[in-house]
Amino acid sequence: MTGGKGRLDRVRTARLRAVLGAVLLSLSPGSQALAAPAEGASAANGQAQFDSLWLGSAWYPEQWPEERWDEDLRLMRAHGANVVRIGEFAWARMEPSEGAYDMDWLVRAVRLAGKHGIRVVVGTPTDTPPAWMTQKYPEVLRVDGEGRRLGHGGRRQFSISDPHYRRLSRDVVTRMAQALGREPNVIGWQIGNEYTDESYDPAAKAAWVGWLKARYGTLDRLNDAWTTQYWSQTYSDWAQVPFNTEKGNPGLMLEQKRFITDQWVSFQKNQLDAIRSAALPSQFITTNLGGLGWANRFDRYAINRDLDFASWDNYVGTGHVLPYRNGASHDLVRGWKRRNFWVMEIQPGFVNWAPVSNMLHPGETRAMAWQAIGHGADGILYWQWRNALNGQETMHGSILGPDGAPLPIYAEVSRIGREMAKAAPVLAGTTPVSPVAILQDYPSRWSIDFQLHHKDYDQIAVLLDYYAPLKDALGSVNIVEAAGPLESYRLVVAPSLAVIDEATAARLTAFVQGGGHLILGPRSGQRDAFDRLQPRRQPGPLADLLGGQVEQFYALDEPVAVGAGKATIWAEDLTPKAPDAQVLLRYGKANGWLDGHAAAITRKVGKGRITYVGALIDKGLMKTLIDDALTGAGVARDFAVPEGVELMTREGDGRSVVVLVNHGQEPRTVTLPEPMTDVLEGGRRQAVTLGAEGVAVLQRSAKR
Ligand code: GAL
Repeated sequence: MTGGKGRLDRVRTARLRAVLGAVLLSLSPGSQALAAPAEGASAANGQAQFDSLWLGSAWYPEQWPEERWDEDLRLMRAHGANVVRIGEFAWARMEPSEGAYDMDWLVRAVRLAGKHGIRVVVGTPTDTPPAWMTQKYPEVLRVDGEGRRLGHGGRRQFSISDPHYRRLSRDVVTRMAQALGREPNVIGWQIGNEYTDESYDPAAKAAWVGWLKARYGTLDRLNDAWTTQYWSQTYSDWAQVPFNTEKGNPGLMLEQKRFITDQWVSFQKNQLDAIRSAALPSQFITTNLGGLGWANRFDRYAINRDLDFASWDNYVGTGHVLPYRNGASHDLVRGWKRRNFWVMEIQPGFVNWAPVSNMLHPGETRAMAWQAIGHGADGILYWQWRNALNGQETMHGSILGPDGAPLPIYAEVSRIGREMAKAAPVLAGTTPVSPVAILQDYPSRWSIDFQLHHKDYDQIAVLLDYYAPLKDALGSVNIVEAAGPLESYRLVVAPSLAVIDEATAARLTAFVQGGGHLILGPRSGQRDAFDRLQPRRQPGPLADLLGGQVEQFYALDEPVAVGAGKATIWAEDLTPKAPDAQVLLRYGKANGWLDGHAAAITRKVGKGRITYVGALIDKGLMKTLIDDALTGAGVARDFAVPEGVELMTREGDGRSVVVLVNHGQEPRTVTLPEPMTDVLEGGRRQAVTLGAEGVAVLQRSAKR
């Protein structure tokens, strides 16, 4: 992909191939369908998802007469589907009254799907408690941050902390797992759907107090960590510690985020254990973490730790795909588990919840699918197959109409199906690999958001400022947690790492001393793990390594000159302290305080390097900074593509695959650096021409 963020945003074995060959079903003479790996093809825990590409949709058989199911599944198979997701909102059908379970219909749906060559992901229904439950046990209903208890009729109205809800969830999931855990056609499980809202009910408050006691042991420790002498916040009884959504002490708020994360982890584990105890080990367990990949209500690395792989929803809403932001979202999700992921929901043209729920361009739905695959998605599932005849989402895009016949988007989804079938054997076992990582850290994001200091300081925009020129140079960029291993990288960028605890400081130091290049962005190292100001200047525990420090930070009311460009929103005044620390960028005539001072400093450490960039710099400066950093770190660029075209790469099993997507509306010709095999069209190519929203999948020599 070339061009700045602004410019474009305006525009997975041979074993398996044998298996695939054996089970390929014919749609029509000469055509291919995606194949589901034969039973036994994957034995490892949740491994099956990596054995193929998966295409399908969310299907709600409970909403339709059973006589209709066969036709639905026939139409799915005919467009190339090999998977379907069912069950995630059907608690009232699975347990029509307390303790009276009916899983037979689910078993029948799963087996019928199998007859059509379609494997099944089973969703647990805990996003939508049945009405008998909320009537009999009103305490299962969520209490919001203002203390209001929610009512029935929507979804997400349950408490993640309430013991009754945990028990009832465990019971229904246990019954599901007993009914379906050994069904050969079930490929995996999705726990709940789109974890979103925590609860502030009495059970949650009790859990909060218990969590604090376990973490701190004594109130003295808690008071010390949160500096509660400030404003007479000192607590002499655990029950005094606030628990709500009010803006409070940032130390408390950071801990509340960790507590909420742990509540979701245990809410999920309650169900996960029930599934694991009854399900075949080959069945994977994931959850669908929703359309807001960047959302930070809780720590998504922690949620994914117990799961086999990550899933999310890729929705555009109003407008069209913003290639960098959307691509980076996929990279973020891949980074949650550092492995390929699924797009559990993607829009079939349009949604129903956006300010303007416009249709995507012709071809854009296909381009979105291939962008996801290029970034490491192995599963693409449309939401949804067919809209319910009533309910809150009757206006959403779907694949079938209310008459049960294909809508216009069906043809595009069928093309995706044919193409995924062709590409699956080539992509199986491949994943995006990058020498470069961007660090994304939930405690830092929380900390900065608690005390923004400038209303326009948007950490995702800051991350994307670094991401865009990196992605222009490379087929793949990783986005990973600051708390993980870094040895495989040559260049690591931490755009907003405000919280640096000792362990992270030690890991980053070892990375630089081991020859890596680290770039720190503004606000780095200001805080410790409790969100306390570090008792030394930024970047705190990395100041000695940098050989320099931040003298003062400034929220900018107007742009300031820096180097040959400018900085907006944020600028820090840096001083080199070590003799070998060099000034990389200097402010020009600025706000008086910054004039002529250092805006970025860099220091060579053995074969490694650490650079601190204290300002939010413009695109031109950023491009120079990143180009120099790539050269300095010895990172080879991938081949150049025209503006508007995104280059994505996946490697593995001795294969190297290039995915090209033209996000624009004008045709573009891409000259290839070597002849490549055209996976979708056949033949060898030295150049490819992509029409509007055009896609190419190319196999190149693995050793370059
Ligand atoms: C998702 C949700 C689906 C459906 C969809 C509509 O967030 O998981 O159940 O509501 O949005 O776009």
